Amino acid sequence: MTSPVQIAPATGKLGVLLVGLGAVSTTTIAGVMAIRRGLARPIGSLTQMGTIRLGKRTEGRAPKINEFVPLASLDDIVFGGWDIFEEDCYAAARTAGVLEPDQLAQVRNELEAVKPMPAVFDQRYVKRLDGPNVKKGKNKKDLAEQLIADIRAFKARHSCDRMVMIWCGSTEVYMKETAAHATIASFEKALEDSDDAIPSSMIYAYAALREGLPFANAAPNLTADIPAMLQLAAKTKAPVAGNDMKTGQTLIKTIIAPGLKARLLGVKGWYSTNILGNRDGEVLDDPESFKTKEESKKSALDYIFQPHLYPELYEDLCHVVRINYYPPRGDNKEGWDNIDLIGWLGYPMQLKINFLCRDSILAAPIVLDSVLFLDLAKRAGMSGIQEWLSFYFKSPMHAPELYPEHDLFIQLMKLKNTLRYLQGEDLITHLGREYYD
Ligand SMILES: NC(=O)c1ccc[n+]([C@@H]2O[C@H](COP(=O)([O-])OP(=O)(O)OC[C@H]3O[C@@H](n4cnc5c(N)ncnc54)[C@H](O)[C@@H]3O)[C@@H](O)[C@H]2O)c1
Repeated sequence: MTSPVQIAPATGKLGVLLVGLGAVSTTTIAGVMAIRRGLARPIGSLTQMGTIRLGKRTEGRAPKINEFVPLASLDDIVFGGWDIFEEDCYAAARTAGVLEPDQLAQVRNELEAVKPMPAVFDQRYVKRLDGPNVKKGKNKKDLAEQLIADIRAFKARHSCDRMVMIWCGSTEVYMKETAAHATIASFEKALEDSDDAIPSSMIYAYAALREGLPFANAAPNLTADIPAMLQLAAKTKAPVAGNDMKTGQTLIKTIIAPGLKARLLGVKGWYSTNILGNRDGEVLDDPESFKTKEESKKSALDYIFQPHLYPELYEDLCHVVRINYYPPRGDNKEGWDNIDLIGWLGYPMQLKINFLCRDSILAAPIVLDSVLFLDLAKRAGMSGIQEWLSFYFKSPMHAPELYPEHDLFIQLMKLKNTLRYLQGEDLITHLGREYYD
């Protein structure tokens, strides 16, 4: 055992600012409101339902995670956010069409009180959308300052003790790191010049990190995954996590693939396709936004299978990912996977997966968990990339010299060991020799 890390208590209000009040955000917000009134259960949330084993298997110690580490209570959360549409959160949740009208009606007053602040938005980065609730500014630096003013005003208005910001906005077009992203100085110069290398999401991330707020990116955009943001996070001691929430098909992929790999079954092909009819699906119908998502969705298998170590099993893997916008399905995505396997002596086999899921129902609990764990990280003095939160992301952020860890089970072990480490408990290695000595 080591001594526990000093963690400031989770007293007072936690302001949760969500960028984009669409399907994911409204399902998260309405869900938390329903749960804290005892009207629904937080299924899928590790912070609310998970337990953690401590010590030896013979000790029988397995407290709930939210009793083991000091997390903010759901009762202390105050939601706010920005959107390019003027609808309040109740109307936006009705538009998103994820939760049943009867369920939304139960928290209607509270939801209506969450009204979107005017957004920083430029249609060049999200081609399929346009809306009226948008800020004007003389350059991108000015827009960032307006966001910082919003953050401060929200904090004062709701007497928040601490704040967290999560990008739950639409997927922006595919972008690569440029010289403008290299340092805080080059980034701030690019903000002043309204450089095209800075999409809207980066302006929000910059505002959050300048204020020392923990920031996570629920979408696959580059956003905070650039050196300038990491330098800023180090300077203001802000924790950062991302990218792209691991829900639906990629969640299943990172559950199945480690199992196949563990048994050294070869994989020749993995064909994944989805039909999705919500606004996210509409945005992803634009090839440039889809490219951002495709890159994020495709990386997991390469890292899990390690073809450089197992060329005979995985070197020629053909991995195809498709998303088809199909309005009748709304948020109720359907995903199909066909996996072409190779077994003993090279004999072929196939595995078919048909997942009839609900995109935002899978995303909401992990947005909540990310918020609560990022707030914990901040209070524990952990800043920069929070690799222990890889569990929640399709393209986990990682130090430049490392490869990302995609295996869901390794990610969970890492997360729980981080909590044990914070509280000075023994890390669990699963060696277990002592039971037999
Ligand atoms: N639902 C899931 O399971 C899931 C999983 C992983 C990632 N994501 C990603 O999360 C994001 C949100 O998904 P969703 O289903 O809620 O989409 P959505 O289209 O319902 O909501 C996105 C919202 O963001 C708003 N928006 C776009 N640009 C903005 C800006 N610059 N400022 C403020 N608001 C802005 C849009 O107006 C919209 O209301 C998407 O990028 C999606 O790819 C979703």
